[in-house]
Amino acid sequence: MRKNLIAGNWKMNTTLPEGLALAKGLNEALNGKTVKCDVVIGVPFIHLASVAAAIDTSRIAVAAQNCADKEKGAYTGEVSAAMVASTGAKYVILGHSERRAYYHETAEVLKEKVILALANRLTPIFCIGETLDDRDAGKQFDVVDEQVKASLFGLSAEDFSHLVIAYEPVWAIGTGKTATAEQAQEIHAHIRSTIASKYGQAIAENCSILYGGSMNAGNAKELVAKPDVDGGLIGGASLSVENFLPIIEAF
Ligand code: PGA
Repeated sequence: MRKNLIAGNWKMNTTLPEGLALAKGLNEALNGKTVKCDVVIGVPFIHLASVAAAIDTSRIAVAAQNCADKEKGAYTGEVSAAMVASTGAKYVILGHSERRAYYHETAEVLKEKVILALANRLTPIFCIGETLDDRDAGKQFDVVDEQVKASLFGLSAEDFSHLVIAYEPVWAIGTGKTATAEQAQEIHAHIRSTIASKYGQAIAENCSILYGGSMNAGNAKELVAKPDVDGGLIGGASLSVENFLPIIEAF
């Protein structure tokens, strides 16, 4: 079902004690509050189990920021979707532009990761988005269509209905440059229509599509007010309760 969702992406930040303090601080801040969205925090792998044990996971769900494209076995250093799920995590961020750019994750590898995540009952938060060059060339719609088609359109309708999409223009990530609410709405509506062309209107309408890229307390309200923007994936501003809480309260 389509839901409002605010997800933090801590990236490679916080030691374990710092991460625990941040998670517990958020847990406390939300205690007794009624919020109008689901809340997720995407934490480093080694924090997953400790964070999940330290907070009320019925209020704040825990996400990994990646998982392996193989089920298990001799893949030194990798962390499988089953391992992530066994920590109590419910989500996994996949296809983030930093993983695509710095770790050369291809559409094909991401396809495998999505399949394994879903098989282990994790909700993938699947990231797509164009670079500045793409946008300058007017190719943003083609780029996101290709990303969605190449990694997700092999899924059954049932499987597709269990994932969340995050539109994150690469030029807006960590740059302080946010897409305008109009730009976000335009491309979110486009993504939804692309989903509808494959899976039908009902599944497209039920898919949560998040915006990501320099979202903060100042711009969150305007973004989530748009009909096709169902929440956000937040990097920098998720690293303190002070900055993250007002984004959760933007709904
Ligand atoms: P940012 O990162 O909010 O720091 O721009 C968003 C993301 O990369 O998910």
